[in-house]
Amino acid sequence: MKVAIGNDHTAVDLKIEVMEYVRSLGHEAADYGTDSTQSCHYPKYGEKVARAVAAGEADCGILICGTGVGISLAANKVRGIRCAVCSDVTTARLTKEHNNANIIAFGARIVGSEKAKDIVKAYLEAEFMGGRHQERIDMIHEIEEKG
Ligand code: RB5
Repeated sequence: MKVAIGNDHTAVDLKIEVMEYVRSLGHEAADYGTDSTQSCHYPKYGEKVARAVAAGEADCGILICGTGVGISLAANKVRGIRCAVCSDVTTARLTKEHNNANIIAFGARIVGSEKAKDIVKAYLEAEFMGGRHQERIDMIHEIEEKG
């Protein structure tokens, strides 16, 4: 899979670790984040990754800011994006299995690098279950269409 990875200034080191880890799992990792620790605006990177995923340039995305929240809010404004903040492995697995999340986000100030890698692995290895879960995703998209 091609994984688009984005981050703000709080997550430069963690982004590098996560990218290496994604590659070690046999996936392609594309960097859409910043390499600078100078304060910057997380919506820019949330949007970049979301647009790449929505356009099919990447199969899924990983976003990292201080908490994971701001960058996920930005990503979720892009049509077709389902970005879930995951601070634990179970949420990471279930958000793929049930919500077919096409991006996950987490916080560099919230999770350490080992936990971040466990979250990434759980998400990348999980599979969408379809069925009743697809109906619910369709309902989410109907809300999106209403604007
Ligand atoms: C930056 O200080 C911080 O606000 C940002 O990384 C993120 O946590 C926002 O949700």
